[in-house]
Amino acid sequence: MAVFHLKMKVNGEQVAVDIDPRLRLLDVLRDVLHLTGTKEGCGEGECGACSVILDGELVDSCLVLAPQAQGKEVVTIEGIAAEGKLHPLQEAFIEAGAVQCGFCTPGMILAAKALLDRNPSPSRQEIARAISGNLCRCTGYAKIIKAVEIAASKLKTEAGAASA
Ligand code: FES
Ligand code: FES
Repeated sequence: MAVFHLKMKVNGEQVAVDIDPRLRLLDVLRDVLHLTGTKEGCGEGECGACSVILDGELVDSCLVLAPQAQGKEVVTIEGIAAEGKLHPLQEAFIEAGAVQCGFCTPGMILAAKALLDRNPSPSRQEIARAISGNLCRCTGYAKIIKAVEIAASKLKTEAGAASA
């Protein structure tokens, strides 16, 4: 079997692993690097449970062949809390009661992060559009949208405090 030498940055750390080049990015994250916060739902790009941020873009990691991540930077749910403190999106999801079974939550939070990184003040429609590729069987989405609004406001407050 051919071996692919994969080098990429994951949650700020450089990783180098020898893998079967047929693996998906999702497989490498979960089975090789043991970052099991990224979930597999449909395995075919329909549910968003496997969402991660790859070089700043939200992707379904079940649709990305691992070699396509060569030299790139991946952010997973494990990488967004800083210094033991939850990310404002994680806090807001708890505050808004936007987590029920939790299966969709890592992907939802990454989708929301990708949105807020490029648009700190999204409208409700923009939030709904940003999470439209992420399915939730439990919450009915209203609390998730609320959570993203709360997080946007927290992030703006934090940014204001940092620049004061
Ligand atoms: S598991 Fe990747 S989109 Fe559903
Ligand atoms: S909280 Fe259960 S699928 Fe979203």
